[in-house]
Amino acid sequence: MILHSVYFSAKGTTRLCADCIAEGLNLEKRDYDWLTASEPEKTAIPTEDVLLFSMPVYGGFIPGLCAERVSSLEGDRTPAIIAAVYGNRHYDDALLQMKELLEKRGFVVIAAGAFLAEHSIFPAVAAGRPDEKDRAAMKEFAGRCRELLAQKGLWEEKEIALPGNPDYDASVFKGTAFHPDGDERCTGCGSCVEVCPMKAIDRENPRKTDASRCISCGACIRVCPEKARDYRGEAYLAARKGFEEKCAARREPELFYITS
Ligand SMILES: Cc1cc2nc3c(=O)[nH]c(=O)nc-3n(C[C@H](O)[C@H](O)[C@H](O)COP(=O)(O)O)c2cc1C
Ligand code: SF4
Ligand code: SF4
Repeated sequence: MILHSVYFSAKGTTRLCADCIAEGLNLEKRDYDWLTASEPEKTAIPTEDVLLFSMPVYGGFIPGLCAERVSSLEGDRTPAIIAAVYGNRHYDDALLQMKELLEKRGFVVIAAGAFLAEHSIFPAVAAGRPDEKDRAAMKEFAGRCRELLAQKGLWEEKEIALPGNPDYDASVFKGTAFHPDGDERCTGCGSCVEVCPMKAIDRENPRKTDASRCISCGACIRVCPEKARDYRGEAYLAARKGFEEKCAARREPELFYITS
């Protein structure tokens, strides 16, 4: 049994969660990193393998480009484990959306987890997460998933129940008003241009960001060796204060299984 680990992780926390769950599953693993501007290759995952599909939550859903890219995956009643990684506000309909998208591609979602991570736009929210307690929850999750994978007969005819609004409309999230740009520390190295999944940074002037393309993922902030890219401006600072207050209370991981 091979574990196919598919993830999109601009700031790295979704990848951390995917790797932690994969470690607990302890299977031969193939990684599929969707943080790229080019379409992923078509990938057929046979029924004897397993898909681990880990996505960050953007506006209560998975990133729009990832929702589109699910069409590159093809299952054959293949078991799938899904992980939604969110920044302590809420994951809303993300798990339900992931389940529906994957079912349409021939997968059976056997387990789902909503996990916490530092908020990539407002990093003081859930700062330092996932932490030890989160990792313990991921290990527990992986352990239950291993048991389920070994007992196919228990879940073959079942369907997992997940929270969310069955009438969700992912098109309502139009992105945030905040987009990082570069300051005078920029040396023009081009790393941010290379990493941007939306081609929103001009190679000739990498300090500037095309707001109409940018999805605020934060990958450019993460790779900039000069720390020149960040969110700025009064509107951002005001929103940050309000958001930090609203989302101060610690939330905990939530785990769901097809047999419960
Ligand atoms: C555009 C955007 C929208 C987001 N929307 C939400 C949200 O609806 N709820 C939430 O709790 N966190 C939200 N977040 C925070 C991310 O889900 C969180 O920081 C996640 O860990 C990012 O994953 P990464 O580190 O792999 O990039 C959002 C982040 C971005 C960039
Ligand atoms: S410019 Fe926007 S879309 Fe591109 S890497 Fe930066 S935050 Fe992500
Ligand atoms: S990664 Fe930083 S230093 Fe390099 S081009 Fe982009 S903003 Fe400039």
